[in-house]
Amino acid sequence: MTAAVVARDLRRTFRTRQRILRPVRTEVEAVRGVSLEIAPGELFGLLGPNGAGKTTTIKMLITLLLPTSGSASVLGHDVVRDVREVRRRIGYVFGGDRGLYDRLSGLDNLRYFAELYGVPPREQRTRIGELLELVGMTGREQEKVEGYSRGMRQRLHIARGLLHDPDVIFLDEPSIGIDPVGARELRATIAGLREQGKTVLLTTHYMFEADELCDRIAVIRAGQIVAEGTPEELKDQVSGGTVLEIETYGVAAGVVDSLRRLPGVRAVATEERGHVQTLVIGCEPRTDVTQQALALLDGVRLGRVGHREPTLEDAYVELVTR
Ligand SMILES: Nc1ncnc2c1ncn2[C@@H]1O[C@H](COP(=O)(O)OP(=O)(O)O)[C@@H](O)[C@H]1O
Ligand SMILES: [Mg+2]
Repeated sequence: MTAAVVARDLRRTFRTRQRILRPVRTEVEAVRGVSLEIAPGELFGLLGPNGAGKTTTIKMLITLLLPTSGSASVLGHDVVRDVREVRRRIGYVFGGDRGLYDRLSGLDNLRYFAELYGVPPREQRTRIGELLELVGMTGREQEKVEGYSRGMRQRLHIARGLLHDPDVIFLDEPSIGIDPVGARELRATIAGLREQGKTVLLTTHYMFEADELCDRIAVIRAGQIVAEGTPEELKDQVSGGTVLEIETYGVAAGVVDSLRRLPGVRAVATEERGHVQTLVIGCEPRTDVTQQALALLDGVRLGRVGHREPTLEDAYVELVTR
């Protein structure tokens, strides 16, 4: 079976010229040799912090940006040579809520874009009906878009991106800026795409979202893929061990550094919540550093101390910081 999406050593450099006092040329290597393969029907997550190169990668795959080098294809069609064929078979949705007509109803927006994308008139009604169902908006389609929540707008965007019935869908941070309830509905919609047999490439920086939805994930950092696998594999690969959490009421940076240097410790992150600062200490498998850690924290006011299983977020933090 041929892969739905293939990228081979994709690179993209941006040249920028800043003219403040004298022209300064700078080069940004946004994507530095990304290779990936997505099977048909797979929901693949590209996970990484801001500026990692997620959008640039997607833009090359959807023919909106030329690679500086390397190659990529979608359903066997080269993204540089077969632009028309690729565009016919893909849909894409970027985060944010622009690109819809606020004064029109959801239904009229879909009718308008169906016309624009050349959906045959006879098919439009059924197609739009199915899509409203898929994105959970049946019954709300007569309302004007200006009254929709951000989550609803984003789901309408997804419906719009699916009007021409593409086989491969690219979703670039679809849940950005959406409240938790809206984001949950959006995740249900994305899971629905997968059930329909669509191939989906999703970018996000929300770990739990990737963990919940994706069959496979690639973690991208500074333009390069630093890890790849199922959510389970990623968790094993990184903190196969356990995570020790210690609540403190403020701890000196020097102490955190000493914790990092303890044998058996892979990574230490700190999370602030009000007055409480939690030290999240990722340990090697079958290693318990509780005694050593507490010795280093002698004299520091502590709260709860406990162990837990690593989450995908721990794996992610370790991958993007080490
Ligand atoms: N058009 C552009 N011109 C110059 N630099 C860019 C441009 N687009 C993106 N970049 C830079 O490329 C890097 C990757 O950006 P991007 O792909 O948008 O990351 P992400 O989507 O993961 O946040 C960033 O450093 C960004 O500033
Ligand atoms: Mg982006």
